Amino acid sequence: MHPLTCLIFLFWMLGADTFSFYPRLRCSMNQQASSASSVLSQASSASSASTALYALPPIVILPGFGNADVDYVTPLNQPENKGLVSALQRRGFDDVTVLELPRWEWIRVAGGLVDPKFWSGDQEPTGIAYGWYIERARQTIAAASEKAGGAKCIVIAHSAGGWLARATLGDSNAYVQSLITLGAPHFPPPTNSAPCATRGALKYCDENFPGAYLKGSGISYVTVAGAAIVGNNAKPDKDDEMGSEADELYKRRGEGSAARVAFNNYNALSGDGTLVGDGVIPKVCAHLEGATQLTLDGAIHSINEAGTALPTERWYGSEDIVCEWLKPALEELSIQLPEKKVVTTTEASRRTFATQLLTTLALTSFPSLASALVTVDVNNSVAREYSALPGLYPTIATKLIKRGPFKSKKDMYDALDSDAEVERLKGYDKQLKIVKRDAGIMQFKESQICKYECKGSSDYQNQQMKQIQSERRY
Ligand SMILES: *[C@@H]1O[C@H](CO)[C@@H](O)[C@H](O)[C@H]1NC(C)=O
Repeated sequence: MHPLTCLIFLFWMLGADTFSFYPRLRCSMNQQASSASSVLSQASSASSASTALYALPPIVILPGFGNADVDYVTPLNQPENKGLVSALQRRGFDDVTVLELPRWEWIRVAGGLVDPKFWSGDQEPTGIAYGWYIERARQTIAAASEKAGGAKCIVIAHSAGGWLARATLGDSNAYVQSLITLGAPHFPPPTNSAPCATRGALKYCDENFPGAYLKGSGISYVTVAGAAIVGNNAKPDKDDEMGSEADELYKRRGEGSAARVAFNNYNALSGDGTLVGDGVIPKVCAHLEGATQLTLDGAIHSINEAGTALPTERWYGSEDIVCEWLKPALEELSIQLPEKKVVTTTEASRRTFATQLLTTLALTSFPSLASALVTVDVNNSVAREYSALPGLYPTIATKLIKRGPFKSKKDMYDALDSDAEVERLKGYDKQLKIVKRDAGIMQFKESQICKYECKGSSDYQNQQMKQIQSERRY
């Protein structure tokens, strides 16, 4: 390829779909990728069991190809509470750093073109194309660890950040205790296929630091793969009911469906488009031998539905999906929570909500006391909170959650189905208030419920949890 053609190609790669695009790597199919498919409970965290927060290890997030640091903070300009960083902070991780990375900087990968090793396919990860990323990652990790008084970091690496993280760790790393990769393409192309877009860098990484390379020196490896989409090249019928908004968009653009987009991605990466994966990376490419392998049935690759600008609630960094991988990843580390509780002042408002919720839950055990004391904030409640007011949970509570938020109390009463229900709810009229909905409060309450009730909970509680979560409206 002429250097200029290649440069244009790289620009195209960066421009085409900055969020979900991954360079056209292939990964070897003969890798051992036995999937320990783990359907895990909704438990969110092995952190604190009270409102106090503990000093958990620092986390460093390594972005994927084409991703900028903001994608993990305010994805697609959504509010901060939609970001992976915020999801981790809600679970008590106060010290989360995202590798500083403006999106344009990926253009530096094109610098590899002046490296003769690019042309011979012998690029090294630390060469011109990716060396800048690796160097910055090393510095960021070391700085995060030092800032935390020498505590070793948990590195969470998304997509291409995954193999770059392996290269970053290299032969040894004194600042890291765990590497968690989310939908990372870990393997170079099979030798008989088209050249790897990394021109040897990924191959070098996989040959020199194969599998869970540093497990022996105490670094735990967790590979997380999504299995939400089976690749399928068939064009859906014109009249087929499409599953999602994204599918509708693909249809309008003539691309068919999410399954068809996935087919092309998987095919480019592995030579087999019919695999299962996260829509961009097939599952078999995302698991490392020797790592704890978590396959999440519902997870997709990017902050957006692949190939679109539509935000998603089901990527690796979404609230519910984080619930599924973080807990087993922490168990892997057997993180010992320190004896001393560290309460930071910036967490004050969160603690207030947590306290309110705990109070409500505690009062549930003393209904008579509860019914006199509790006020329910109707527009900002989870169904479970109504259990403090006898006779409302679950039937009336569920209806209020499903049919709210309400403009007024009149709207609230109108939403019920019978006079008997209205009468029962009116019995608590003074204890019901309706104010504006605050998405942040809601999300936090849900994460707290997950935290307190999922862990070691009974089947009955799990079922209740599932129900509460399925009742959500946002
Ligand atoms: C309840 O929340 C909804 C959604 O934010 C809002 O439209 C409605 O006005 C709120 N009700 C009151 C009384 O503020």
